[in-house]
Amino acid sequence: EKRNLILAFESSCDETSVAVIENGEKILANVVATQINSHKRFGGVVPEVASRHHIEQITICIDEALQEAHVQTQELSAVAVTYGPGLVGALLVGVSAAKAFAYANDLPLIPVNHMAGHIYAARFVKPIVFPAMALLVSGGHTELVYMPYENEFQIIGETRDDAAGEAYDKIGRVLGISYPAGKTIDELAHQGQDSFHFPRAMVHEDNFDFSFSGLKSAFINTVHHADQIHETLNKADLAASFQQSVIDVIVKKTLWACDQFAIKQLILAGGVAANHGLRDTLATELAAKQPQLDFVKAPLKLCGDNAAMIGAAGYVAMKHHVFADASLNAAPSLEF
Ligand code: KG4
Ligand code: ZN
Repeated sequence: EKRNLILAFESSCDETSVAVIENGEKILANVVATQINSHKRFGGVVPEVASRHHIEQITICIDEALQEAHVQTQELSAVAVTYGPGLVGALLVGVSAAKAFAYANDLPLIPVNHMAGHIYAARFVKPIVFPAMALLVSGGHTELVYMPYENEFQIIGETRDDAAGEAYDKIGRVLGISYPAGKTIDELAHQGQDSFHFPRAMVHEDNFDFSFSGLKSAFINTVHHADQIHETLNKADLAASFQQSVIDVIVKKTLWACDQFAIKQLILAGGVAANHGLRDTLATELAAKQPQLDFVKAPLKLCGDNAAMIGAAGYVAMKHHVFADASLNAAPSLEF
């Protein structure tokens, strides 16, 4: 049987990435060119800077990915690309490159939702079993997604304000940690204690939504108040307290959602899914309270933005005959 080879593109934010995926489940290449160092000095991603970097990197990434995969252009089956959500200028670079590549090589073009990509990163661990629930936690999103079938996504709960990763990055600024702060705060948290007992928003409410802006404000107020009275707070304890609050809320709501929907598998994905505290707590709590449920975490290396996950999601979309033509445009506010 002919192998299915997808050339996948991702450029929604600050990573330019091109991957080659075999049969939707095997990574032959996953080239990721990160721009983080260019954005660090601004404390966040500068859209115009991001677009320029993508333009510089994209063709280099295509060449590298094909070379690394030992795949010739004429062996490819299709091209998949993130067309949203994300920064419009950044998305346009990937979309334009993918369209041009598909047109020049007479290949079908598969439009992929970035968030579906994050979910399908879990496919590289094991097959997804339906109905499934995905806990998607990233820099721009925090949502619980119910998937009754393959390629069907229903948001059952989401953040009312900040995304989890956004909260990490914002309190990171207060602690003097450079962007993106999530990984460093995660490491700091493991050296501290939850001694501040920050609020756990909406945890007892009868819905699957989240809110992190109250926690962020409580954190900032605590640090500013200490500054005013010239008191120095322990950074590790601050990080541990913040992280424990985030994890408590996310884990409780997720377990409740899993209990309410008859699902077979829970998927943890998105940039914040790299958080060790969250990965471990969710695994422990599930094992204790819902042992029948299969739990799959996106591989650590595939939690952040990358094109491999877009290739995996693209493969599924292709099976469902989801294709685009040359009129495909970037959709910065794309929803499921
Ligand atoms: O999915 P992603 O790479 O980009 C978006 O699509 O948003 O997520 C990036 C986010 C950043 O906010 C970053 O601080 C956070 O993921 N992050 C973490 C960890 N690693 C990355 N947050 C908490 N703990 C981590 N270990
Ligand atoms: Zn992402």
